Amino acid sequence: MILEIVAIVVCYLLGSVSFSVLFAKILKGIDIRQHGSGNAGATNTLRVLGKGPAILVLALDVMKGIAAVWIGRWLGGDNEWLPGLCGIAAIIGHNWPLYFRFRGGKGIATAIGVLATLCFLPAFIAGIIAILSIVFTRYVSLGSLIFVLLTPVFLLIAGYSWPIFWTSLIICVFAFWRHRTNIVKLVQGRENKLGSGKGKDK
Ligand code: G3P
Repeated sequence: MILEIVAIVVCYLLGSVSFSVLFAKILKGIDIRQHGSGNAGATNTLRVLGKGPAILVLALDVMKGIAAVWIGRWLGGDNEWLPGLCGIAAIIGHNWPLYFRFRGGKGIATAIGVLATLCFLPAFIAGIIAILSIVFTRYVSLGSLIFVLLTPVFLLIAGYSWPIFWTSLIICVFAFWRHRTNIVKLVQGRENKLGSGKGKDK
């Protein structure tokens, strides 16, 4: 039990490393949470810092999710729940980071890492549909929500184990909660489109 708790805490601390906040501070001396959408994530890094830093932030945030699941697998042994719990802990760290006054991102990049490691094929298919929706609508938030919603649906259809299904459902709930402002804006037609160059949209 102690080992499991240590693993979850370590993954929360890992998730708390907010790369978008760090890069914005290092490259421009600014707090990214005061710019663009105010979100500490890859999409807002693209708006505020540009393509290169955004790709790097996306890759590093995805890696946090991958690493968390692997930590859970490594320390959990036969425990089927621990990889998912570690992944959720990393997403919680990303969303509410200990080192940055608990103001972080929306957890999608880290969720991609967690879900792709736990259940590659359903996450991959959901990811393709999400990318297509972003290409056609230019709403990253809509694509993010489609990804987290479709993954548990596919897991259920394909009969994956309950620990993986519940992990993906909890990730989906967290993502919808963190995107509640985006959802309102999507409904009202005020959501920022990718590449629209719009400024602060909080
Ligand atoms: O993953 C975050 C994305 O879905 C929305 O980001 O900055 O447009 O709120 P943002």
